[in-house]
Amino acid sequence: MNWPIILWLLIITLVENANSEESSWNCRFDESGIPLDFQKLYRDDDYIINHESQNETFRIQICGPLHKNCNGIPGYSACLQFGNKTEKGLGRVAEHTHEDGRIMYKYTGDKCKDDVNYQLHIIMMCDYGAIDSYPELFPYEQSYCSFFIIWRTALACPRYPGQSLPSISCKVTDDNGTVYDLSDLKELANNYEVAIDKNRSIILNICHPIVYGYRSVCLDNSGACLRINSDKLSYKSLGSINSMKLHAKPLVLEYEMGDVCTKIPHFRTTITFVCDYNATNTAPVFIGIEDVCHYKLNWRTAAACNEKDLENYSSKTAAPCKITNPVTKIDYDLNSLKGKEPIVKTKAGLEYKFSICQPLLSNACQASVGAKDAGVCSASQRTIGGKANSKLLWSVHGLYLNYTDGSPCGGNKNRSTQITFVCAASEVAENMNTIDDDDLCNLYINYHTSLVCEKKVRDFFPF
Ligand SMILES: *[C@@H]1O[C@H](CO)[C@@H](O)[C@H](O)[C@H]1NC(C)=O
Ligand SMILES: *[C@@H]1O[C@H](CO)[C@@H](O)[C@H](O)[C@H]1NC(C)=O
Ligand SMILES: *[C@@H]1O[C@H](CO)[C@@H](O)[C@H](O)[C@H]1NC(C)=O
Ligand SMILES: *[C@@H]1O[C@H](CO)[C@@H](O)[C@H](O)[C@H]1NC(C)=O
Ligand SMILES: *[C@@H]1O[C@H](CO)[C@@H](O)[C@H](O)[C@H]1NC(C)=O
Ligand SMILES: *[C@@H]1O[C@H](CO)[C@@H](O)[C@H](O)[C@H]1NC(C)=O
Ligand SMILES: *[C@@H]1O[C@H](CO)[C@@H](O)[C@H](O)[C@H]1NC(C)=O
Ligand SMILES: *[C@@H]1O[C@H](CO)[C@@H](O)[C@H](O)[C@H]1NC(C)=O
Repeated sequence: MNWPIILWLLIITLVENANSEESSWNCRFDESGIPLDFQKLYRDDDYIINHESQNETFRIQICGPLHKNCNGIPGYSACLQFGNKTEKGLGRVAEHTHEDGRIMYKYTGDKCKDDVNYQLHIIMMCDYGAIDSYPELFPYEQSYCSFFIIWRTALACPRYPGQSLPSISCKVTDDNGTVYDLSDLKELANNYEVAIDKNRSIILNICHPIVYGYRSVCLDNSGACLRINSDKLSYKSLGSINSMKLHAKPLVLEYEMGDVCTKIPHFRTTITFVCDYNATNTAPVFIGIEDVCHYKLNWRTAAACNEKDLENYSSKTAAPCKITNPVTKIDYDLNSLKGKEPIVKTKAGLEYKFSICQPLLSNACQASVGAKDAGVCSASQRTIGGKANSKLLWSVHGLYLNYTDGSPCGGNKNRSTQITFVCAASEVAENMNTIDDDDLCNLYINYHTSLVCEKKVRDFFPF
């Protein structure tokens, strides 16, 4: 055999493959019993992703061709434009792969270097929170020929026919009325993985079905499942989300009714939680297996501490107009809102001006007695809703300020006001304020700001 012939054969095979792929996009499929449909992602306008550091732009579609030609040629599904406006086709119909839960589209395009063609990989990842999401480009270096895009979308999550995602409470109250809430541990785009040995690991989510994806091919609304990678890869349900139970003392989460097992009828999993204020971003720990079928884990975390204690703990560590979420340890600083003095209207039509973390700079209430430190004031009535303070408070419902000792009210009470900070997508929404109620000498104000939005750090990458 000589090289030219081998090369020639190779080229023919590649061309034939390319031709056979040309037939159609694989966008609706049912593999491992999981029906998925990406057809909805094919849109009227092409997706445009800029890679600013290289001054390059990607135009892509999946499940169909681009609407605008690439380099003047129709039929491409992905196109790369350089800073000088030159365009290269990155591929037409992409090849679809689905291995161990990783769903990928691979595009092969024009020539990049001597014997290398452009390649674009789009990895589809289930994220129950990603409804109208946009694909994200993975950063690359100058003159690369191969690119990666991650597309987090709820469309990559399995929906069982006729079954919507169960909504599960993650709260439990003990006999004394103490509330525990594990919601912070719930994952919409990730799972927890706990290794048992080289070949086996437990895949786990809290108060939510396991998120389908790479290394997590768990079915039937499992809350926990076992990944076994010995001679061949297999998965077993260790308990279903439908049978989840949460107990308060001790704090234990149980998933029952997993796959059929020998000793007891079905696999089950219990996770025992231990409150530790200092334990953030911790992982569950495998303890052992009881009676062949009962998997046991422990989890030391601040999320397992009771709500009142967490509030108390966070207020002790707070600084003026600053506070740390005691569960996630994310710091918040609202000092930049000082000096903004928005006006809100009650249902009865009464207007109140309020300030954040400091007294109002000027207000009609100053005319009244002892009103220098008013934080909320109604100009028309000269009513003080409460005295300002900079003691920012944390509760599971959000950050808030509690202004007390306002104007006398209802005989022997004084007015007070709670200003709750609500996450808003952009700064534009910052001055949207709403008042819910002004009964019972109490005023509730919601202040919308992006300063209180929590972004979970994603530490998971599907390679
Ligand atoms: C990016 O490309 C545009 C032309 O499309 C050019 O005007 C601009 O200077 C380029 N910027 C950089 C940083 O190369
Ligand atoms: C435009 O830029 C690309 C990448 O830098 C380069 O390969 C190509 O030759 C340039 N085209 C022109 C017409 O300058
Ligand atoms: C309720 O509180 C009492 C007194 O503080 C305590 O002895 C008891 O253990 C508590 N019960 C629960 C379920 O926490
Ligand atoms: C892991 O699987 C391999 C076969 O793939 C087997 O030889 C090995 O004994 C297994 N190890 C454990 C700890 O089960
Ligand atoms: C928690 O962390 C703080 C500060 O890092 C330390 O002073 C304290 O002793 C820790 N508490 C526990 C229970 O580990
Ligand atoms: C808050 O903690 C302090 C000291 O740790 C304690 O004395 C106080 O009773 C706690 N308050 C509440 C409301 O739990
Ligand atoms: C606000 O402060 C008052 C007085 O300290 C207190 O009675 C009330 O419970 C507080 N309200 C909230 C929501 O923290
Ligand atoms: C209401 O506020 C006034 C002035 O600050 C104060 O003297 C009075 O004690 C307060 N009343 C109550 C019930 O807190």
